[in-house]
Amino acid sequence: MDDYEELHAKSIADPEAFWAEQAAELSWQKSWHSVLDWNDAPFAKWFDGGKINAAENCLDRHVADGRGDEVAIYWVGEPGDTRNITFSELLSETCRFANAMIARGVKSGDRVLIYMPMVPEAAIAMLACARIGAVHSVVFGGFSATSIKDRLEDSEATTIITADGGWRRGNVVPLKANVDEALENYDAVENVFVLKRCENEIKMTEGRDAWWHDATADMSDFCPAEGFDAEHPLFILYTSGSTGKPKGILHTTGGYLTGTATTFKYVFDHQKDDIYWCTADVGWITGHSYIVYGPMANGAAQVMYEGAPNQPDWDRFWQIVAEYKVTIFYTAPTAIRAFIKAGDHHVDKHDLSSLRLLGTVGEPINPEAWMWYHEKIGAGRCPIVDTWWQTETGAIMITPLPGATPLKPGTATRPFLGIDAAILDETGEECGPNEGGKLVIRKPWPSMLRTIYKDPERFKETYWNEYEGIYLAGDGARTDDDSYFWIVGRLDDVLNVSGHRLGTAEVESALVSHEAVAEAAAVGRPHDIKGQAVVAFVTLKEGIDHGDELALELRQHVGAEIGAIAKPDDIRFTQTLPKTRSGKIMRRLLKEIVSGGEVKGDTTTLEDFNVVASLQKED
Ligand code: PRX
Repeated sequence: MDDYEELHAKSIADPEAFWAEQAAELSWQKSWHSVLDWNDAPFAKWFDGGKINAAENCLDRHVADGRGDEVAIYWVGEPGDTRNITFSELLSETCRFANAMIARGVKSGDRVLIYMPMVPEAAIAMLACARIGAVHSVVFGGFSATSIKDRLEDSEATTIITADGGWRRGNVVPLKANVDEALENYDAVENVFVLKRCENEIKMTEGRDAWWHDATADMSDFCPAEGFDAEHPLFILYTSGSTGKPKGILHTTGGYLTGTATTFKYVFDHQKDDIYWCTADVGWITGHSYIVYGPMANGAAQVMYEGAPNQPDWDRFWQIVAEYKVTIFYTAPTAIRAFIKAGDHHVDKHDLSSLRLLGTVGEPINPEAWMWYHEKIGAGRCPIVDTWWQTETGAIMITPLPGATPLKPGTATRPFLGIDAAILDETGEECGPNEGGKLVIRKPWPSMLRTIYKDPERFKETYWNEYEGIYLAGDGARTDDDSYFWIVGRLDDVLNVSGHRLGTAEVESALVSHEAVAEAAAVGRPHDIKGQAVVAFVTLKEGIDHGDELALELRQHVGAEIGAIAKPDDIRFTQTLPKTRSGKIMRRLLKEIVSGGEVKGDTTTLEDFNVVASLQKED
């Protein structure tokens, strides 16, 4: 820990020196002339002048090092089919698919939407984009046709990569059919590549759609890895904010790769013989940074699993850990809570002695879940790295360093090297120990988001307006007497449902797009497994009765507008919603109603006192 203290102090005294040293571990085609250009803050330029290819760093480098025959991905399909793919194979497939895209006119800078199951081709598609400088935008396979269309319109992607379907809990998710639905009355998409995965029946539109295997059949497995500017966009990933419109978080190449590669190496203490497994989906930032870019830049061998944790039963993960002798395992607290509920006997069936390090991400982990993970999965032997970060930060920001940081259940502990995290009060003063405030990052870091795609004003306003030149994370937090960071949760109208960000405004705009709904307010309620569940208060249009079916219909409507994760657990019909005199819905009161049933907070600005009384009665 003393070493950490010293290294950290040094790294934040001169972050540029620290990050330049880390960046130099990557393979650059041309060196940078400036490490950080912060003149146009908050628009950062890292490693300006440098030229780099992300795919080359993730693939060619390891093949050139003589590691081509080593397995990069141990893939497990949900139905039980498996594939082991070496670095050489991954490189050939990436090049072949990159060439297929080039043959169909995809160029550097074009946006490519990826909507895939968790198959190796999802990573190959991302790396193929990176190889040719196309900007990928992965859309989680659980999102609906409407979500795909919103992201297509915003990113102006002209190519889509998808599959006929993907396996989830024994069913086929109709990915291609969802893409077709998104493309009804939308003709800006020129190419749709379709991987055959489930052999479910699909429609192909001639001239636009091509099977992955046909498009790559005659392609060479050589595709040059052109060096792109360090600030060349690598990807856009949409995430929820406090408005109804998801934000397109833009990451660029050199800094992002430096951040993910460095954190992977140190936080997971990655060693040559490790078998690593991150259970996230590539549709989220965790899958981008800690399935694709971070591990692959380090040449890690990893497990990738297509399906659900309880398919066919709740021991599926542990069976995979035992079979592949996984040494590093990274998952979400919500999954851990679900395993606890499913019962220890599922764990006891398998030999987990290969594990040496465990990790969590996505939400605060409650100490009970931490203890169970530590004792039951890690046999008291494996350190747990509770990693705090965000889609925006690109890479892990607050985390223990295994072996160095004494652990405490429930805290992400201390900032990573080169990261100047702090907690500030309303006036911008640093909070003392045990004093709650706003989590900020005071100095730029290489994997930081560069902007919100096509909306630089929203970028400035959301993250940089509160404190001059300082990044506002949007989380409330405190430090304890050991300067450990305890993350309390979001300060904005963003929920965290099963470790996934969901804007209450998105749920509300989905609800009001239904013809029966006049007004809606969505809030979070604590949930044993999901962390938070969505509760929606709905007022109906004049003359409409909610009957027995409407709640069900509205849940389905939200599922169709956003995706299954956004479906409210509970829909409450009400005559009116509590509002301030200026007409703003007082979500705070609704939150209190759904969490405790009683409104304790200040109600002096409430326009109509009777509203709360009647909502509590309904509760
Ligand atoms: O509230 C924090 C929570 O997840 C948010 C970021 O969500 P997203 O961009 O979807 O990325 C999730 C995966 C990196 C944060 O603002 N969060 C993430 N990790 C933790 C966490 N809260 C507490 N502890 C964590 N380890």
